[in-house]
Amino acid sequence: MLRTHNCNSLNIDNVGETVVLCGWVQKTRDLGGMTFVDLRDRYGITQLAFDVKKNETSCFEARKLNREFVIQVKGLVIERQSKNSKIYTGEIEIEVNELTILNRSKTPPFTIEDDTDGGEELRMKYRYLDIRRNPIKDKLILRARVSSESRRYLDTKGFIEVETPYLIKSTPEGARDFVVPSRMNEGQFYALPQSPQTFKQLLMVSGIDKYYQIVKCFRDEDLRSDRQPEFTQIDCEMSFVTQEDVLNTFEGLTQHLLQSIKGVKPKRFARLTYQEAMEKYGTDKPDLRFGMKIVEITDLCQKKGFSVFDNSELVAAINVKGGAKYSRKQLDKLTDFVKTPQIGASGLIYCKFHEDDTTKSSVDKFFNEADKKEWGNIADSDNGDMLIVMAGEKNKTRKALGALRLHLANELNLRDPEKFAPVWIVDFPLLEWDEETEKYHAMHHPFTAPKKMDLILLEKEPEKVRANAYDLVLNGNEIGGGSIRIHNKELQQIMFNHLGFSDIEAKEQFGFLMEAFEYGAPPHGGIAFGFDRLCAIIGGQENIRDFIAFPKNNSGRDTMINSPSFLSQEQLKELSLNSKVNKKVDNG
Ligand code: AMO
Repeated sequence: MLRTHNCNSLNIDNVGETVVLCGWVQKTRDLGGMTFVDLRDRYGITQLAFDVKKNETSCFEARKLNREFVIQVKGLVIERQSKNSKIYTGEIEIEVNELTILNRSKTPPFTIEDDTDGGEELRMKYRYLDIRRNPIKDKLILRARVSSESRRYLDTKGFIEVETPYLIKSTPEGARDFVVPSRMNEGQFYALPQSPQTFKQLLMVSGIDKYYQIVKCFRDEDLRSDRQPEFTQIDCEMSFVTQEDVLNTFEGLTQHLLQSIKGVKPKRFARLTYQEAMEKYGTDKPDLRFGMKIVEITDLCQKKGFSVFDNSELVAAINVKGGAKYSRKQLDKLTDFVKTPQIGASGLIYCKFHEDDTTKSSVDKFFNEADKKEWGNIADSDNGDMLIVMAGEKNKTRKALGALRLHLANELNLRDPEKFAPVWIVDFPLLEWDEETEKYHAMHHPFTAPKKMDLILLEKEPEKVRANAYDLVLNGNEIGGGSIRIHNKELQQIMFNHLGFSDIEAKEQFGFLMEAFEYGAPPHGGIAFGFDRLCAIIGGQENIRDFIAFPKNNSGRDTMINSPSFLSQEQLKELSLNSKVNKKVDNG
C-alpha cells in the first residue's frame, strides 16, 4: 500500500504516530514560515503542515503544489493549534517530513469544492472531476448503499439474481427501442431491452420462483429530470403469488431501505385506487406529504347564474392553508401558472375566508356568504384559508388542480425532502385509448392480467376493465410499477387482439412467450423499481442525474466521451448500413 491511513481516519488518539497519506491537494496556504495543505481523498480531508524550520526542502516543495496535484506525504501526527470541529480530523495535522509528487494536474476547469463555480455543461464534460466533489460523490455512495441493502433484503427473502441478455428483440414498455445492427446477420438488428419483462416471465416458466436483477434498461424517449435513456431497475418477479403478496414483499423492501439508510420506518403504506388518486389529487402519482386534497363542489355551484360553473362537467377546489393572505399580485401569478400551455386552464376563481368570519371571492356577484361557507365546509377551510376553484371537463380540471396543488406546495415549502410518504396506487385501467393512433394501448404493458371480475367487460366496454397492476409512489414520484401477469396463452392472445396486433404480428413478436405458456407457466407477478429515482428520493432530490456516475445530458449526449458519434465508412460497410449516414460522414 502507498499509504497507512486515508484522509478521514486520524484523530487526537493518533498523535505521535508516523503515518503515510496520499491524496489530492484541495488548497494550500503559505504563511511564510509555515505552509498548510488540505489533503483530500474520497474519505475526507487531513491538514498537512510544512514547517520551514523543521524541513526546509519539503516546505519549499509544498509551496510549489497546485490544486489537484496528487501527492504522498510521510510525517508525524500532531495536535493542531487552531482546531476545526466540523471535520473528523479537525484536531490534528500531519507535520510532514517527506513529500512525493505522484502526479501533477492542470488547473481544473472549475473549483472542486462543494459550492463550485462550474456550470452544468462544463461539469458534465469533466464528470470525473465533478465526482471528486462531495455533493456528487456522496450521491454515488448512497446509490451503492441502496444497491447493497436491496440485495441483502432480496437475498434473505429467497430471491436469486439472474442476468438476462442486453441484445434482444423489442419489448413493449411504451418507448422507442435503441437498436444495434448485427454484423453477422446482414440488415438485421437487435433491440436493447426497455426492461427484462419477457425474460423474467420466462424465468418463472423455468421454475426460478423468485427472481431479481439490478439491471440496465434502455428507452429512447424524451428526457426529463427523472428520466435517462439508460437507467437502472431493481427488477423482480415471483411465482404463485397474488397482488397482495407482491405488495407486501416490496413494501418490505422499501421499508428496509428507508430504515437502513435514512433511519425512518413509515407505517403501513397508504393505498389509493387509480380512480381515487385522480379524484383527490388529480394525478396517479400523488405527493402525500401534505393534504390540500381536491374536493368536488359541482352541485353546490350550479344554477346560481354563473355560466362558467353551470356549463362545466366538474367544479372542484383545493384549500390553501393561510391563503387568505395572498395578495392580488400572488393570485395573478397563480392565474398565469394555470394558463401556461402545460396546464391549459382558462383561469381560476378564489374564495378567501377572512379571520373576521367574512368571505371574499372573485365571483361574489353570483354567490352569497352562505354559498361560500358551504364550499368551505366541504373543503375543511378555516378562517385565514383560501379556496381555489376550477371548473371544466372532469379529467382536465382534476389534472389542472393537481398541478396547482404541487405548485402551491413548492411555494409554501410543504414538500419536506426528509419526510417520506409512500403510497400504492392500485386498480389501474387495463387499457387506455390513444387519440393519435385511434387504438387501445396497454396502460402498464400487454402482459398485465385483467381483474377476473372485469373480464366480462373486455369485449364491449374494454376501457372499464381494471388491471391487477400497481405503482409505488414516493413523495409524488413513481418509483416502481408492476402487475400480476397473464399466464395463459388464450387470454394473452385476446389481449394482443385488443391492442391491435394481428395473430401473425403477435406470433412474430411474442410467439416465444405464448409458446412458453403452453409448457406449464405458473401464475406469476412482479414489479420493477426505478433504481435511480429511488436513490434520488431517498437522497432528498428529484433529479436523478447526479445519482448516476456518467449520465447523459438533455439531448441524450455524453459530452465527456462525445457520444453518440458517427461511424467510419469501414464500420458502416461492415454493418451493411445505408449510404444516407455515409454521406453525412463524408460531408463532415
Ligand atoms: P415501468 O415501465 O413502469 O415498468 O418501469 C419501472 C420503473 O422504472 C422507472 N423508469 C425510469 N427511470 C429513469 N429513466 C427512465 N427513462 C425510466 N423509465 C421508467 C420508473 C418506473 O416506475 N417491466 C415493467 C415492470 C413490471 O411490470 O414488473 C416496467 O419496466 O420508476
